[in-house]
Amino acid sequence: MTTDDETSALPVHGVPADDVLAEVRALRERDRPTHGGRLFAYVYDPAVPGLDDLTAAAHAESAHVNGLDPTAFPSLLAMENALVGAAARLLGGGPGTVAPDVVGSVTSGGTESLILAVKAARDAHPEVTAPRIVVPASAHAAFAKAGHYLRVAVDTVPVSADTLRPDPADVAAAIGPDTVLVAASAPSYAHGVVDPVAPIAEVAAAAGVRCHVDACFGGWALPWLRRLGEPVPPFDFSVPGVTSMSVDLHKYAYAPKGVSVLLHRDPALRAPQYFAYADWPGYTMVNPVIASTRSGGPIAAAYATLRHLGEDGYLRLAAATRDAVAGLADAVRATAGLRLMAEPESTVVCLTATGDGPDLFVLVDELAARGWHTQPQLRYADLPPSVHLTVTASVAPRVAEFAGDLAAAVAAARSAGPVRLPGDLLALATALTPEALTPELVAGLAAGLGLTGGSGVPERMATVNTLLDAAPPAVRERMLVEFVGLLQRPAW
Ligand SMILES: Cc1ncc(COP(=O)(O)O)c(C=O)c1O
Repeated sequence: MTTDDETSALPVHGVPADDVLAEVRALRERDRPTHGGRLFAYVYDPAVPGLDDLTAAAHAESAHVNGLDPTAFPSLLAMENALVGAAARLLGGGPGTVAPDVVGSVTSGGTESLILAVKAARDAHPEVTAPRIVVPASAHAAFAKAGHYLRVAVDTVPVSADTLRPDPADVAAAIGPDTVLVAASAPSYAHGVVDPVAPIAEVAAAAGVRCHVDACFGGWALPWLRRLGEPVPPFDFSVPGVTSMSVDLHKYAYAPKGVSVLLHRDPALRAPQYFAYADWPGYTMVNPVIASTRSGGPIAAAYATLRHLGEDGYLRLAAATRDAVAGLADAVRATAGLRLMAEPESTVVCLTATGDGPDLFVLVDELAARGWHTQPQLRYADLPPSVHLTVTASVAPRVAEFAGDLAAAVAAARSAGPVRLPGDLLALATALTPEALTPELVAGLAAGLGLTGGSGVPERMATVNTLLDAAPPAVRERMLVEFVGLLQRPAW
């Protein structure tokens, strides 16, 4: 077998370390900027000098430690327990609170935490043969993924187009005899609004059903914002009926990726989360989380982040984030043609176009052309398309610059005009059923849209987003699966 030494991950002759690192750095130059406050999704940047070096060193220290067996690596157990304790304390649990028996696990991320919350709820009721969960329509897609993986049906409760929240009465009505879990978000990712957790937990408790608060996104931001005087509604273990919560340390705790905490109000609630297996000739396996072998790196890095930043550090970062959110929201209010989807109440600014406003997908491209990477959100039910900005502390010094560029980008989007899809493309998006979208059809579509060729995605995505926006969710899913499948091809 021959390989091209320039590109192969397995060259015939090993490459010197410095060269390999240079190659990785060269590859990384293609990425969006993870630091500098210009990327409003995917990354969480506190802009704290020295933090990256600290977490990289801590990560390296524990990278080869295996979380498979806590008795072999007590360092990991100690750090995990410390992270769980800190998260529990921040979210209304621990000694001296109304939830003194809170326990938890460290997972690899929000999705794993939610899958495990659903698994624990499902397996607590083996007598329910066709289990279901009730979630607001605004709940993170990871609940749908949990349902898909675990064969649990998902009953979705609509959210109001005005408040972007579910009505607790609708949640109550959706609970049935097979419901094993009810969920609420604090806040929702898309719009950053906190669901009415107390009445939702109350109707769940009245029905004898677990209630999970997904605070993956905001669980490490809302408590500091509250301490700063912001009006944060009750959402944590202080609320009766809340049985579990998730909070991602790789989001607003500013830890490197790969760490979330799943908390349960008491050990009995957590018990069905575990998996143990002794019926094979190898080691007896007991896993609190989905992965078996897992690196200690992310856990050590998160531990180092929390210890280094401390409460005073997080308060300072929350204040910077709050100010950035306020400034960005003012910029949206000041721009004709745009409006806020909701008054910001956490760390999200979500905007949409007014009736005479610019094409939002063109606006997103115009912002990207000016170095600002925002996240387009497609229309859903009676909610219009919108643009999501996850705001972190690093954005604070950039607000004025963003405001100027937002106005310029709106003007440019207006003069470019809206995307007009060719009629055949529009027909394809709106008329086809997901089953009719063959891989060949989507490949032709992708080629027409410039989505192939191994060069990643095109710089301007407005046409692609308009096409997806026109399609119903099931067709969007099919198209995206095929598109991404085209990108994921082995590099020989
Ligand atoms: C509210 C909420 N829940 C769950 C998740 C999933 O987290 P992850 O991407 O770490 O799996 C996210 C991610 O943004 C989120 O915002």
